[in-house]
Amino acid sequence: MMPEAAKEIFVQTTMERASATERDAAFCQRATAGVPFLDLSRQHREIAREVEEAVRRVAASGEYVLGREVEAFEREWAAFCGVRGAVTVASGTDALTLALLASGAVRKGRGDEVITTPLTAAYTALAIVNAGGVPVFADICPRSFTLDPAAVERAITPRTRAIVPVHLYGRLADMRAISEIAARYGLMVIEDAAQAHGASADGKRAGAFGHAAAFSFYPTKNLGAYGDGGAIVSNDPALLERARILRQGGHPEALRSGAEGRNSRLDEIQAAVLRIKLRKLEEWNRRRRETARLYSQAFARTSLVLPTVEDEAAHAYHLYVVRHAARDRLRAHLDGRRISTLIHYPFLLHRQPLFASGARSSLPIAEKVAGELLSLPLHPHLTEEETHAVIAAVLDFEKSRNL
Ligand SMILES: Cc1ncc(COP(=O)(O)O)c(C=O)c1O
Repeated sequence: MMPEAAKEIFVQTTMERASATERDAAFCQRATAGVPFLDLSRQHREIAREVEEAVRRVAASGEYVLGREVEAFEREWAAFCGVRGAVTVASGTDALTLALLASGAVRKGRGDEVITTPLTAAYTALAIVNAGGVPVFADICPRSFTLDPAAVERAITPRTRAIVPVHLYGRLADMRAISEIAARYGLMVIEDAAQAHGASADGKRAGAFGHAAAFSFYPTKNLGAYGDGGAIVSNDPALLERARILRQGGHPEALRSGAEGRNSRLDEIQAAVLRIKLRKLEEWNRRRRETARLYSQAFARTSLVLPTVEDEAAHAYHLYVVRHAARDRLRAHLDGRRISTLIHYPFLLHRQPLFASGARSSLPIAEKVAGELLSLPLHPHLTEEETHAVIAAVLDFEKSRNL
């Protein structure tokens, strides 16, 4: 079993985006001990032949950044999301930053406010700050853990320019209500879809609801590269064109336009890998949903509060996150059975000094929920034995509580 101190370092480094080496080492350490939280080498084994062939093809092509593979992937990703176009960039954080800038949601030096959730990866709020905006945090719904539309409406001020709903853990935020509020107040909606590749509602996929959306292709995501990557998607050709200019700020076209861009490009090897994995995404999401169904069925009569959705398609189960009042005891029990769990997220963003100016009101639901969240292992390559080991361990915990 991993010592407690090492476990905390693992969680912290995962959350705070430590170096890939540290994280990979942590995953490997866990992989040798019971049920690992995630083991991407299994995913690689399923597609190894195609990936190796693609890497050889790109290497031989002499075209390594923003070439034909990137163009093809952008077309394929836009088609998958059901939107007009996609612009790939170097990370999900850059995608959100550039979407906020390309949409005009955030203007330089104007103190433009962007409403978002306190329960998300810190990169959501960091992207708002990077764009020059001020993140303002609204409370969440206790069951979906996504932005509460009523709280969003209460957080609107004359400085508000945009809403960034996060499709947390793979579950779509309440896009109908949020879009309605945005239309009423003349605000832009930029989806943070970093965790929701393939989630859908009302016949639309994540990424097709807002003025623009940002995706991350970080390796652990439902669609992940073999390194960093991200994409902005939108139905607005002018917005897409601005994003294309902003991602290469040193290009003569960008300089002529006067846009203050950056250098944020996707390379050909990542695009080639993403094209291979995109063909697997629906099947992999189906497997995620099936494991989630097994968990939810098995835990239905326990004291765990389970993820709920009216329509299963609205959830891509990037993570399977439960709530439990005795979360830390449950976690210690699972750790004793060598079952790895994580906490997404161990801190709320309005409590972080960097974003504290956006904490105007109390956020009681987020504050309560944050201490109770626990992510159980769930990924497309979790084996049947592992799934049942997790179920058995949770049920044993429940039995011991009832003794
Ligand atoms: C909700 C959310 N937003 C933004 C990001 C940032 O994506 P990236 O790590 O690719 O910059 C992540 C991933 O860490 C995320 O989970």
